[in-house]
Order: sequence, then C-alpha cells, then structure tokens
Amino acid sequence: MALNLTQKIFKEHLVSGEIVAGKEVAIRIDQTLTQDATGTMAYLQFEALGLDRVKTELSVSYVDHNMLQTGFENADDHRYLQTVAARYGIVFSRPGNGICHQVHLERFGKPGKTLLGSDSHTPTNGGVGMIAIGAGGLDVALAMGGEAFHLSMPKVVQVKLTGRLQPFVSAKDVILELLRRLTVKGGVNRIFEYTGEGVLSLSVPERSTITNMGAELGATTSIFPSDERTREYLKAQGREKDYRAYAADPGASYDETVEIDLDTLEPLIAQPHSPDNVVKVRDIQGIPVSQVAIGSCTNSSFKDLMTISHLMKGKMVSPGVSLGFSPGSRQTLEMISQNGVLGNMITAGARLLESACGPCIGMGFAPPSGGVSVRTFNRNFEGRSGTKDAKVYLASPEVAAACAITGVITDPRDLGVKFEQIEIPSEYVLDDRMFIFPQADGKDVEIMRGPNIKPLPTRDRIASQIKGKALLKVGDNITTDHIMPAGAKVLPLRSNVPAISQYVFEAIDPTFPKRAKEEGGGFIIGGNNYGQGSSREHAALAPMYLGIRGVITKSFARIHLANLINFGILPLTFVNESDYDKIDAGDVLELETANLDKKPLTLKNVTKGISIPVTHALSSRDLDIVAAGGTLSYVKSRTA
Ligand code: F3S
Repeated sequence: MALNLTQKIFKEHLVSGEIVAGKEVAIRIDQTLTQDATGTMAYLQFEALGLDRVKTELSVSYVDHNMLQTGFENADDHRYLQTVAARYGIVFSRPGNGICHQVHLERFGKPGKTLLGSDSHTPTNGGVGMIAIGAGGLDVALAMGGEAFHLSMPKVVQVKLTGRLQPFVSAKDVILELLRRLTVKGGVNRIFEYTGEGVLSLSVPERSTITNMGAELGATTSIFPSDERTREYLKAQGREKDYRAYAADPGASYDETVEIDLDTLEPLIAQPHSPDNVVKVRDIQGIPVSQVAIGSCTNSSFKDLMTISHLMKGKMVSPGVSLGFSPGSRQTLEMISQNGVLGNMITAGARLLESACGPCIGMGFAPPSGGVSVRTFNRNFEGRSGTKDAKVYLASPEVAAACAITGVITDPRDLGVKFEQIEIPSEYVLDDRMFIFPQADGKDVEIMRGPNIKPLPTRDRIASQIKGKALLKVGDNITTDHIMPAGAKVLPLRSNVPAISQYVFEAIDPTFPKRAKEEGGGFIIGGNNYGQGSSREHAALAPMYLGIRGVITKSFARIHLANLINFGILPLTFVNESDYDKIDAGDVLELETANLDKKPLTLKNVTKGISIPVTHALSSRDLDIVAAGGTLSYVKSRTA
C-alpha cells in the first residue's frame, strides 16, 4: 500500500495501535529536547523514574527562556539542568547557544526520526523531515526513559505547493496564508504534510518557518519531505551523513488536501491579537509602528538576518522605531559577525539582543504602552509581549525590515530596493563548544540543586476507599490559570512544588492550600469545562501534592483531564448534572475504589446521607495509572 510520509515514519516507529485517524497509537521516540522553563520539571520527573541513563538516541537540554537573572532562581535552574544532563547522558546546550528549535535544526535534526520536545514549537524540526511533536514534561521524561509516546492518530492533511514565491514574498507568508484560511483551530488533531513541486523551491530554514508555525494552527505537527534541499542543508551543517531521502510513496492518500499556489501569494501580516487575523500588508499600509522585533524560533535563521541586512543596507531605522533583533543561534550570530552583517545592522541603528527567546515571552524589549510592534514571531496574544495594551503584528523578515525603515506598516515591494535571492550558505560556521556532551558514565556527577530545586512529590497507590471533604466547590469554565496561576511571582517556583502549591486557587480561595494539607486531602467539586486553557501540568501536580484524591465535575477540558490522570487524581463526572447541587463545600464524601471499571460508581455524601451516581471516561490503562498513584509510579511498577 502506498504510504504518505507521516504514515511511513509512524510505521517505522510503531510500538502499538493502528495508524488510522482517530485510533490510539504509540510510537518510539528517537530524540527529545527540553527548554529551561519546562525542562526542570521534566528532569525531576525523569529522576523519579529511578533510571541510570536516558534511553533515547539523543536528548538535548536547552536554556533559552528564563534568561533574566534578577534573582538566584533562574541561575539555580540552569545549574541544575547542566548537572542533571551530565549525570544522565543528556547533551546540555549552554545559555547563549540559542533557541532550542533553531539550534536543534542546525546541529541534530535528522530525516525520518521522531523528536518529542517539551515545547509547543518542537514541530520546527519537521522542516528537515522529522516527526517532531510538542508535549508535556512528563511525556518527555517518559520518552527519555524509553517509554513509547501515546496519542490518538491525527488526520494527515496534504498541503500541495505549486509555483514559486515571488520577490519579497517569503515562507512566513505561506503559513500566514494557511492560518488565514484554516484559523487557529483548523489544525487540531491533524498533521500537515507538504508536497508538490513548490517544496523544492524552499530551503530547510524556510520550511522550518512553516512547520514552526503549524503549531498556531493547533496541529500535532507538520513535515516536509527530505530531498536534495535537505541534503544541501545538512551538508552545509557538516552533517551530510545524517541525510536520508524520505518522501511519500507515489499515489499515497491523505485525509484532506489543501492547495497553495506560491506564485499568487503576497506579503501578509497577522493583526492583533491572533495569528489567524491575517490580511495583505498592502491593505493596512501606513499604520505607525513604534517597535520592530526580529527573532524567535520562527524567523531568526542566518538567511532571515541576511534578508533583513540586505533590505536595510545603507538605510537608518526610522526615528520613531526601536528595532531589536535576536539571532536564533550562536552559529547565526557568529556568522553575521564574521561577514560584516552585524556591523551593518548596528550602523543602521538596530539593537542586538541575546540569542534566546527574549521578547517572544516578554523577557525584555517590551513595546511602549499602546504601541504597535511588528514582529517576525509566531504569537501575538494580548499581553504576551510584556505590554498589556500593545498591538502586536506578525510578519516576515522582509515586511519587518520595511516597517523599521519607514516607521509605518509597509509592503516591502514598495521600498524600491532591488530584489536579491538570498540562499543558504554552502558552509555554516561549525563550532559545537557551547554544547556540553555527556561522558560515557555519569554516576559520579553531583547534581546541584539550589534551594529552589525540590524533589518531585510522588503519591502512593490508591486506597480501597477514598474519604475526605469537598474542600472547594467552583463553577463552570475554571481555567488552569485559576487552579495554578503563572506570573512573575509564581513562575520561578516551577521546580519547587511545595512552594508553588501555596498558590493553588489563590484568586478563588487563598485558604485552600492550608486547608487541603490540614485535612490530608479531599475532593474538588467543579462545573462544566473544568481545567480549560493552558496545558500547565502544575495545575494537577500541585493539587496532588496538597493531597487531592478526586475532582468531581459536570465536565473536564481534555488536556487537564489527562494531567489529572498522569498525577494520580481521579477525575469523575456527575451522571446527572443536577447532582452538582447535592454537594456543598465541607461535606464529607466517600468512594469505594475496588471496581472503578464498573460504571456508574456510587459516591456517598456522608454528611447529607445520600448516594450520588458518578462516572468517568478512563481507559483501563488510565485506571491502572490512577490506581498506581500516577504515570510515574505506573511506569516504575511495570519496569520494576
Ligand atoms: Fe522561545 Fe518564543 Fe519559540 S518562547 S521557543 S521563541 S515561541
């Protein structure tokens, strides 16, 4: 049977299940990556597995997110990450080496392999022909421990590219066009596989801009075939040996198809405050711009910076604009400093920022109040830039450079600059000294934990009966932000669960953590859509630390439900939604757990002397996980 590229790589990595859309499937993971904001928890979880070494072909720990060192917490985290990497056989990419996805693409991405990363833009490496998926820290920890990655098989969408990009139109415009057509929900449970003659006209960095921002479609991942352009890139990176041709079989079928004629694309721009709010640049020209930011894991490659420099040569940044740029990697920074482009940029009035995520997560270089910031990044949600009322637009490097020069939103075709095709270099500067490669044996390495690094809490097997108070009763649409807030005060505590758990439900009931600890756990009662919003695993992990055994709601948001299971908290729903009214905060509840697979279950409200039918949608594997006290304990008990 003719297979598409996605099916081929899944087949080569299949552990269990069926490669059919909607069916459960488990695949082997070859490589993992983490960044520092999620990595500390992932490595604490890996440590809890009790293994001696990672079992992947390659695992890399990057430091690119929390670079501001205004207190000891981030520096402590970086030191922990470095020592834990040396102990367990993980490559450590030092702070300053660049943004995880860019650096991984340059030095480690390999066609035909699988990559799991604890960052949503991991699909960037699909540009080199990998199945690269973003996941939670626990999934990445398990993959490092040799466990398969479980998912419901997504639909495979063929994106057929015809024609060729016209001058001043770029790869960013391809993905902005897809976002315009399909919206930020259009890619959910889908993998986007690029085919067609237009693919050959795109270099690997251009392809990676497209696969990176597939995440904004909500896609599981995106992938390009591995072809002569891939070989050219890997060769220039001194890695031709990693090349292997990979493409769909002739006649392969797809669940859906989208066609894009590259010839007809124009420069596009996403308006505030969503990446799918896309219009032609021409249609909104003239809006005054106060800031331009170039960088992020989407558009910070050597080619991107060469493009900007070409457009800005001999010009000056407009007086009303602050232009900042962060090269995606040390390799890129080194190359532009050697070839004079860095000097040209400085001469033009640009500000050099660190090779890191930086302004993409509001770490420095925030726009002025109410200002307009044009960015080559991937997200423009309200407040993400660090300025609540800023208006952030997303566009290509070409558009960003044009805006920086003129001070207003400008179509680069109107700049009057002669177009020059920028190709990737035949040789990149190769210097891997900012990686620390692990020794063959790390047993003697001392893992350094500052006061902010606390051991990961674990939980015992479930008892035959769970009894406790309904500690809190909340309404509909409770978000993971309500459960576990983020923000400058709380974020640096992500590797310190005892401390971070003191903020659980802070805005709803600040006494909750103290009461939960005093009562030795209990239940939370919720309405519909409990746990919506960010995938934050601390919204389950911290309540687990506080002793919560069960959450009983009218319904759950999907990812939070999975996180509750992962951390050994039983997620139950009312059979009759109106029974929500039969429990008050403070009531004592009781549940037998011997036969959790026999639904419905009977929940006793001891205080009121009534029984309430409750149910769940857990598979037998999920039930085993909850019974074991969470996924880590489940995996440990299976491998013991
Ligand atoms: Fe970093 Fe922003 Fe990408 S936070 S990993 S540059 S989406």
